[in-house]
Amino acid sequence: LVLPPCDFTVFGGTGDLALRKLLPGLYEQERRRQLPAGTRIVGVSRSELDDTGYRDLVTQALFDHVAEDHLEAGALHRLTSRLRHLTLDAHSPEDWDRLHGILKSDLVITTGTDTPAPDDRNRVFYLAVASDLFGPICDRLDDLGLVTPQCRVVLEKPIGSDLTSSRRVNDAVGRVFEERQIFRIDHYLGKESVQNLLVTRFANVFLEPIWNSRWVDHVQITVAETLGVGDRGDYYDRAGALRDMVQNHLLQLLCLVAMEPPTHVGGAAEASEDAVRDEKLKVLRALAPLTGREVDRNTVRGQYTSYGAELGHPSTTETFVALRAEVQNWRWAGVPFYLRTGKRMARQESTIEVVFKEPPHAMFPHSDGVTTPNRLTIRMQPDEGMQLHLTAKHPGPGGIRLHPASLDLTYEDAFEERSPEPYERLLMDVMRGIPTLFMRRDEVEAAWGWVEPILAQWQDTALEPVRYHPGTHGPAAAARLLARDRRFWQENADA
Ligand code: BG6
Repeated sequence: LVLPPCDFTVFGGTGDLALRKLLPGLYEQERRRQLPAGTRIVGVSRSELDDTGYRDLVTQALFDHVAEDHLEAGALHRLTSRLRHLTLDAHSPEDWDRLHGILKSDLVITTGTDTPAPDDRNRVFYLAVASDLFGPICDRLDDLGLVTPQCRVVLEKPIGSDLTSSRRVNDAVGRVFEERQIFRIDHYLGKESVQNLLVTRFANVFLEPIWNSRWVDHVQITVAETLGVGDRGDYYDRAGALRDMVQNHLLQLLCLVAMEPPTHVGGAAEASEDAVRDEKLKVLRALAPLTGREVDRNTVRGQYTSYGAELGHPSTTETFVALRAEVQNWRWAGVPFYLRTGKRMARQESTIEVVFKEPPHAMFPHSDGVTTPNRLTIRMQPDEGMQLHLTAKHPGPGGIRLHPASLDLTYEDAFEERSPEPYERLLMDVMRGIPTLFMRRDEVEAAWGWVEPILAQWQDTALEPVRYHPGTHGPAAAARLLARDRRFWQENADA
């Protein structure tokens, strides 16, 4: 597939996300010579930078964030020569005219051969800014005649801060772009292990028959980070962990675990694009609402003790959430899904644990070992892979001794190829126009619809977060949430 040249414009072009993820992602594509010939990258920000200053800034970021053995002088040069910077004050018509100039006429970099007319180029507008700016930016792009049918707009999460504001943002963007042009990014969907979850579930036969309430006892989804909020305090303190992580990444993971088999996964046909998203939406709609007293009982809100000091002021924002959810449908009735995420935790780990029930009949009553439930661990971080935990016979004569053992798949060992970074993969999908791994408007709104009553109850009851020490597994209340059901978080079992 030969793609037309692309004008990739990043609003928030000097921000944390652009420098840490987007430009390194574009660099990797450059290195593999996958960027369409003639592609230009325009960083837009308020910073007073010219093109050279921006190229220097990006080069430094690439040195900081690209694996050392991937830094190649040729690729660095090719990427930086595509870069432009535009200092833009959103209230200044002259600045917007300059963007118009760059995208419409100012084609400094060409392929040398049939360079298409500006409007025939693929145009991608990546909005790596706060979502209340999405609408105004889209309006300006429209006024300037920059929005053509082959344009795409990429929206970073969180889209809004509750259902009403997310609808407002989606309406505003939707007045300018059609839904098929809108790519709402959730980078967790770009992780290899997350996509592999679909393949594991649906390209094999052995899991699906037991993937239901008859055999699955419960599911745990953990996204734990060792980092604190760093210099994103301004944003984070307004968002908190429920909006920052649960509303999007964790619920998306839950959907992929719980959804019914879609008719297709992948492929360019329109049916495939929506097949997965339709199934995810059904899961979101089947989530048992948590409201009022159920919120008190089924959620834990935490904050690490040094958060206020890091931030520079006291705060009641949560940096940790644990909750118990249920999917009310035939397949999952009665199976709890425990979700947990936090900053400054004991270790960096993103895992899904599918914990199966005990065997129906204890056949080895006199064995001097213990049976541990079967469990499938899907590890997204730190080293992507999967483990199937079994009970095996401990070798040796005499009685049968049971012992836990596991079948391990570590991607790095199994496949020689490096897993691409999520942004790298997803940016390529944007350029190719493949929306399967992006969230549809109805999904985002369904997720907000479920999260909103939790936020409301926390607010109505002025619930203070419980404190936890940095470097721990979060507040003790999170362990109690499972202990109440006679279950435990998986690291407690491993300890
Ligand atoms: C982002 C959140 O979406 O995901 C961050 O805004 C968080 O707060 C990050 O640190 C985690 O992503 P990953 O891929 O490092 O687990």
